[in-house]
Parts: sequence; C-alpha cells; structure tokens
Amino acid sequence: MEKIRYGLLGTGGISVQHLEAAKLLGDCMEIVALCDVDEKSLAEKGERYGIKRLYNRIEEFLQDPEVDVVTILTPPHIRKQVVMPCLQAGKHVFVEKPFSLTLEEAQEMVEAASASGCWIGVNQNYRWRPEVQRMRSIIENGLIGEVLMMNMNQSFWRDEQQGWRNTTEYLAMSVMGVHWLDRFRWLTMDEPRSLFSSFRTSGLLSSKGEDITSVVVNFNRGAIATLTHSWVSRAIRGEADNTEIIGTRGTIVQKAERVRLYLQNTDEIKEWLTYNPSEERSKVFVESFADSLRTFTNDIQKNQESCISGADNLKTMALVDGSYRSSVTQQPVHFSFG
Ligand SMILES: NC(=O)c1ccc[n+]([C@@H]2O[C@H](COP(=O)([O-])OP(=O)(O)OC[C@H]3O[C@@H](n4cnc5c(N)ncnc54)[C@H](O)[C@@H]3O)[C@@H](O)[C@H]2O)c1
Repeated sequence: MEKIRYGLLGTGGISVQHLEAAKLLGDCMEIVALCDVDEKSLAEKGERYGIKRLYNRIEEFLQDPEVDVVTILTPPHIRKQVVMPCLQAGKHVFVEKPFSLTLEEAQEMVEAASASGCWIGVNQNYRWRPEVQRMRSIIENGLIGEVLMMNMNQSFWRDEQQGWRNTTEYLAMSVMGVHWLDRFRWLTMDEPRSLFSSFRTSGLLSSKGEDITSVVVNFNRGAIATLTHSWVSRAIRGEADNTEIIGTRGTIVQKAERVRLYLQNTDEIKEWLTYNPSEERSKVFVESFADSLRTFTNDIQKNQESCISGADNLKTMALVDGSYRSSVTQQPVHFSFG
C-alpha cells in the first residue's frame, strides 16, 4: 500500500512526538511538510528532521499536492479556523486533542469532513498507553466480568506561566481531563447516559482556567465512573495517578505503570509492570502517538471509519463540554447515545 504523506500544522512542543513517532512508522506514513507562523521553530524542526517543504503561510501549505493529511498541532482555540480550510483543500485531517473547545464546533467539523469526503480523526493517544492497553485487554477478555464502577484520580502540580495554557479558560478538563473522560468510554466500551460535575479555579496557578475538577458519569449499561483531576496537587508526579475498575468478577487497580488484577474466589493477585518509568517514560509516550497514527493511517488506506474518528470523538467531546456546563449550572447533563 502507498505511504500516506502527512504535513504538520504547528511545530511547537508536541510536534516532536509526531516527528519521532513517524520514525517508527516508515512502512505506512511519512511527514513531508511543516507549517508554522513561527519561522524559528519551523526552521529548527525542518533542519532537525530533514524536512525540506516548509511553509509559514497556511494557504501555500494547503496547495502542496504532496500532503495527503494535515495534522493539526495549533492551540485548541483555533481549531475550526484551521481545520475548515484543510478540508476545503481536500486534505484528510488528524487533530490533536482536545478536538475542540466546544461540542458545537466539533460537530461542525465532523459535518464539514463528511461533506468534503475527507477523513477526520482525533489523537486520543492515551488509549494506547501500555497500562491502558493492559486494562482494556483484561476487560475485553471478560476477566472482571461486567464493569460496575470506575474511579480515576490524576493530579499533579502544573503552573503554566506562558502560552495558550496560561490564558485559556478551558484548562484541566479540556487539556488533560479529555484523556481521562475518553478513557472511561474506551474501557467501559459503553457510552454515557448522564454526568454531573464541579470545577474550581483555586487561584494558586498563573493560568486562568479551572484547576480542580470532579465529574461523575453514568453509563448506559449502568457503570458509574468518577474522575477527580487537579493541577494543584503537591504530590510527586505519578504518585496520584490511579484507576480502579470494579467488575462483577474482579477488580483492576492501576497505579502509574503498575496494573494489578484481583479476582473473586482466589487470593492470587496478578501484577504487570507495563513499562519501566525510569528508562522508558518518553519511549512509551512516543509509541502511544505512533499507535494512534498507525490506526488512523491504516484506516485511511482502507478507506474506513477509524475508532479515533471525529464522529467517535463527539461522544468524548460531549463529556468534556457537558462537564463544563454542569459545573456552571450545578445540574446534571443527559445524553442520548445508543
Ligand atoms: N496528545 C498529547 O498527549 C498532547 C500533549 C501535548 C499537547 N497536545 C496538544 O497539541 C496541541 C498543541 O500543543 P503544543 O503544546 O504543541 O502547543 P505549542 O504552543 O507548543 O505549539 C503550538 C504551535 O502552533 C503554532 N501556531 C499558532 N497559530 C498558528 C497558525 N495560525 N498557523 C500555523 N501555526 C500556528 C505556534 O506558533 C506554535 O508553534 C494542543 O491541542 C495540545 O492539547 C497533545
């Protein structure tokens, strides 16, 4: 099959993971062009990764016939503004999370992709982290039975002094919580029925957005999922990173890289150290991008809807968007996904 050729729109912080991931995917894709309004970062990434087709104007970038897919790596508040011209230029689009700041805008982009005949996908790369793959495989193989409850906590100290994370009003839930709400869908393999949330902005950070969040989600088949996520915990990073999944036949407890399985009717505990954090932290991160990109690339090659399609992501975005609304109204938000 022919390699799919990607162009990156945005050569800031996260572009490095995409460029490194592409090195692992030489059989199916390559990054052939870069575009950024920041000439310095554009030139630096071009030089470092040997990419010659460099653009500082999106109009010229989108006319490049060598680019099949545009990966959107610009800040989240300018999604529609950059995604729509890509679709109009006949490019497939791979958008970094969060898909958008609002569900409404995400819906508009999915509709525009469908009308243009181009595929749109969202980089929910955390689905492919090794600890998550392990939990998913345990659940998929029926080892804990039906999922009754999922509790997840992730907290750390993250004070963004500059850039879009400093000024955005959509902070913890939009930037990181989107991964955890998507994880609920990915691991329950079910869709949400309703949620209730409470957010706070502590004032401890330079950032303007919320930094303390709590969400309870009810799923269609009855699972209850609770998320607590904060950017102002003084705990050592990785210490407060855990998921507990209670099923009818067993329980999974994940703490950072460690996953344990407790089964009913036996005292035996199964344990997996899914990666070595002192040596493999950055490798595991890049590989999660590679797995996500391989999934989207192979689906484009087969001309089929991806499990990380924009349409799929509307359900994750509904949770993110709903959690912002519920935190303001202090009322539950209801969904009607099949
Ligand atoms: N999947 C993950 O694990 C992960 C991790 C980090 C960031 N991200 C996501 O990646 C995206 C980018 O984050 P980042 O940390 O790289 O941000 P960043 O601020 O480091 O980089 C953004 C880049 O976009 C460029 N840019 C802004 N407007 C532009 C325009 N109109 N045309 C061309 N270039 C433009 C900026 O010059 C900058 O180089 C965000 O959506 C973020 O949430 C995802």
